[in-house]
Amino acid sequence: MTSMSGAEAIAAQTDYLAEFRIGSEPYYRPVGQEIALFDAAYQARMPIMLKGPTGCGKTRFVEHMAWRLKRPLITVSCHEDMTASDLVGRYLLDADGTVWHDGPLTLAVRLGAICYLDEIVEARQDTTVVIHSLTDDRRILPLEKKNEVLPAHPDFQVVISYNPGYQSVLKDLKESTKQRFGAIAFSYPEPAIEAEIVAREAGVERRIADTLVRIAQRSRNLKGHGLDEGASTRMLINAGLLAAKGIPLADACQVAMVLPITDDPELRDALTAAIAACM
Ligand SMILES: Nc1ncnc2c1ncn2[C@@H]1O[C@H](COP(=O)(O)OP(=O)(O)O)[C@@H](O)[C@H]1O
Ligand SMILES: [Mg+2]
Repeated sequence: MTSMSGAEAIAAQTDYLAEFRIGSEPYYRPVGQEIALFDAAYQARMPIMLKGPTGCGKTRFVEHMAWRLKRPLITVSCHEDMTASDLVGRYLLDADGTVWHDGPLTLAVRLGAICYLDEIVEARQDTTVVIHSLTDDRRILPLEKKNEVLPAHPDFQVVISYNPGYQSVLKDLKESTKQRFGAIAFSYPEPAIEAEIVAREAGVERRIADTLVRIAQRSRNLKGHGLDEGASTRMLINAGLLAAKGIPLADACQVAMVLPITDDPELRDALTAAIAACM
């Protein structure tokens, strides 16, 4: 019989992913077939792109799916200065010399988590290519600095979010990156469902949620007429949260749905008129 030292026994019991496990069900109101689609994609370990405007439920959805599939979720918010080492890992100096530290992607690959790269286009293309060997049939991650090739755990999956509205020619995914993914489309839910979500998340009466959704629809109609995007579900929830604290609804809408998205006085007036018309 082999015996373990105390330290080994503790290490064997350590759940390195404990902080990434989702204990209780994140509320998610399905809008279409997205749960069945994601479920099938996960069974096939297919890399998935969640595609849609900001604040429409992509992050909440992936949290819900990780909970449903009982997989830990490691989320990385991508940004311009992110390097491949930030994802993969690096050697760091400590009292014993240099010690390798897994980055979030490597941790997910090694231990079988869902790795969610949020707003992937914010990262530079030379950073994004590190996921290529993980998102085709090789399912491996080369750790170049360690001279090691890490095969992905069978439960590992890559999920990315992608907002088509923001893309420019300079800032987009490479064609060779896009083609590795299946995509699930997200948009703002139909009015009745969106009001249900807003009422629940903000803790406001349905009547108020309905009003907020009507305002949002008018705001979304201004997209392209000076607004990059109309009010998102997230903004409606923020307005509702302020209203629930006793702020008059029109003021709550200014704070949560007008001032954050425009500095243009004319647009501000147009949005303010839209709010008044919906009250
Ligand atoms: N279908 C939905 N079910 C439950 N909550 C939702 C849904 N869609 C949006 N939300 C709410 O809107 C907020 C913003 O959604 P989020 O997932 O953060 O957006 P995204 O990641 O697309 O920018 C969430 O925190 C949640 O409160
Ligand atoms: Mg998000």
